[in-house]
Amino acid sequence: MDEKNEGFRIVITGKGGVGKTTLTSCLARYLAKGETNVLAVDEDPQMNLPYALGLPVEEAAKIIPLNRNLDYIEEKTGVRPGKSWGKMFRLGPRVEDVIGRFGVKVTERLSLLVMGTVVQAAAGCLCAENVLLDSVIRHLSLRKNEAILLDTQAGVEHFGRALVKGFSQCLVVADGTFNALSVARHSAELAREIGIPYVHLVINRVGAGGEEKLKRFDAMMQTDTGELFDRIIVLDAEARFEDLEPNVTRILDDPESGYSKGIAALAATLLEFEMKAPDVTQGRSAS
Ligand SMILES: Nc1ncnc2c1ncn2[C@@H]1O[C@H](COP(=O)(O)OP(=O)(O)OP(=O)(O)O)[C@@H](O)[C@H]1O
Ligand SMILES: [Mg+2]
Repeated sequence: MDEKNEGFRIVITGKGGVGKTTLTSCLARYLAKGETNVLAVDEDPQMNLPYALGLPVEEAAKIIPLNRNLDYIEEKTGVRPGKSWGKMFRLGPRVEDVIGRFGVKVTERLSLLVMGTVVQAAAGCLCAENVLLDSVIRHLSLRKNEAILLDTQAGVEHFGRALVKGFSQCLVVADGTFNALSVARHSAELAREIGIPYVHLVINRVGAGGEEKLKRFDAMMQTDTGELFDRIIVLDAEARFEDLEPNVTRILDDPESGYSKGIAALAATLLEFEMKAPDVTQGRSAS
């Protein structure tokens, strides 16, 4: 079988405020400092990722998310969002040009795509914007040493869309709280259901106490959360983020900080699992 000439696709998910965007930006920067070309994708309508990655504020403020690029959506799907009701739109539009047209270069090896997301009714919505966004993620082709990191909106809604099919690994972020760990368990189950082969738990903002919190949670719930995940990684609380934000990636300037060491360990874990990841591209090309 052909070795891993596919790059890797990581989705970062979890409850609100647990540190997904901070983690995505630091991991993106860390990987891009090495041999990996990284595309960081922001799926959250709050659009925090450009700032967290350290893009100059004037530049970040000018970014229009893909789901608001009505001309592009119309050009690709044949339908203008909010108009043309009842008109058929093209499924699986060709979107190879998306990075060239809308990608923002952050560093030599790091680019950013701000997609935005579409608020949907509970039953889901097959609207032109979602068709386009899902196509973009699913058809971006990757070569060896390329990675997509997808920072998602809080919650689990994205698992109900085609968006994350074909991702090779999922990072579920939780702090040590009961609610975040409950959401993490649910997220892991959904990630497995849609066929993501490797799912890891990141317990953020606690450091060594993370394992203890997880044990307490499991004792209370009579569960074994560890069984749901391939690996559990704990990240230290980092008081300096308050001063560094919005560009939290500057923590990497201190490779000795607990958080930076955690990011390095996380990157090593992802690369290790990527070496054995089965080919999940089938899931991506099917609709
Ligand atoms: N390890 C950490 N130590 C201390 N503070 C942290 C840590 N990780 C994240 N934070 C802080 O927690 C806050 C929320 O982080 P972040 O925006 O990354 O969360 P999020 O999960 O992306 O939130 P949302 O669900 O709103 O998108 C930020 O102020 C960030 O600086
Ligand atoms: Mg976020």
